Amino acid sequence: MRILGIETSCDETSAAVLIDGVVRSNIISSQLVHTRYGGVVPELASRAHQRLIIPVVEEALRVAGIGKSELNGIAVTYGPGLVGALLVGLNFAKSFAYGLNIPYVGVHHIEAHIYANLIDEPKPAYPFLCLIVSGGHTQLMLVEKAFEYRLIGETLDDAAGEAYDKVAKMLGLGFPGGPMVDRLAAEGDPKFVRFPRSYLGDDNFDFSFSGIKTSMLYWLRNHGYLSGITGARVPEGKLVNDLCASFQASVVEVLVRKTTMAAKKFNIHDVAIAGGVSANSALRSSLREAGAENDFNVFIPKPEYCTDNAAMIAHVGWMKLWGGLRSGLELGATATLPLGEPCG
Ligand code: KG4
Ligand code: ZN
Repeated sequence: MRILGIETSCDETSAAVLIDGVVRSNIISSQLVHTRYGGVVPELASRAHQRLIIPVVEEALRVAGIGKSELNGIAVTYGPGLVGALLVGLNFAKSFAYGLNIPYVGVHHIEAHIYANLIDEPKPAYPFLCLIVSGGHTQLMLVEKAFEYRLIGETLDDAAGEAYDKVAKMLGLGFPGGPMVDRLAAEGDPKFVRFPRSYLGDDNFDFSFSGIKTSMLYWLRNHGYLSGITGARVPEGKLVNDLCASFQASVVEVLVRKTTMAAKKFNIHDVAIAGGVSANSALRSSLREAGAENDFNVFIPKPEYCTDNAAMIAHVGWMKLWGGLRSGLELGATATLPLGEPCG
């Protein structure tokens, strides 16, 4: 099967080609237009997707070395995400599939993040636990069997990636802030400030990141920094590295401890992570250490399969199309979408 995957749920325009389950191309165009606004501007994202979708798809086909007439299925994200952004990819996929007279299937964005762990060997075996940490989601999910999920816990306020981005903004770093905080934290002292860790009680698998974000804000104010205001004094040099490292230590500690607790409680041997924050170097190494200490196997996708990409969409699309699933032309783009909804 030769599948074209398309992803336009946020600010990445991506297309990938999967041939018999093997990724042959994965083109990702990150929209830089949002940087100056410190966050994704939905209308600008939609317009950029419109400009980029055709060249990105053409490039994905070119790199894979196939023509469009050789495709026999299309997979596309239909939610959750920014509706205007999703509509560009979804309508492109519908029209392309209709014109080529091939089937297409709608894919759940978070489901695709989870299944990014099954693109390459070694793959987790069911039932496995997946910590999903992206810009919009933070969830601990038990994947009981293919496409069957049990939500163990989720964030009560900000998503982990959102906390990274907001703290980066306070520190005067660019957008998206996660990769920058990760880089600076590597040079800093994680014990410089002890930011709060929200455990929300024993046996609780929910998360809360708003407290740590507020603590960072107060710390900056108390030390004479007017964070978040354009042109205001922001910490620099070793100080910003130490603040990034201290923030990251708090977030990673909570994520890893809760994941470890859940693995123990549900007697799980395979633990995976998914979503943009799973590209974080401290989270990756800390979870690996926890796995070695607590006797569970850790699965982490390649960095290019952690942040938004169409290879993960093509992979889930391949599984669904192979299983006979097809979406109809009436399928709509959906901003919020629980896992496990039918996409037909
Ligand atoms: O999964 P993703 O690409 O898009 C969503 O579905 O939201 O995740 C984006 C999020 C952003 O908040 C970004 O700052 C964060 O992932 N992120 C990181 C890193 N790379 C991306 N956060 C921490 N460390 C990183 N290395
Ligand atoms: Zn994502």
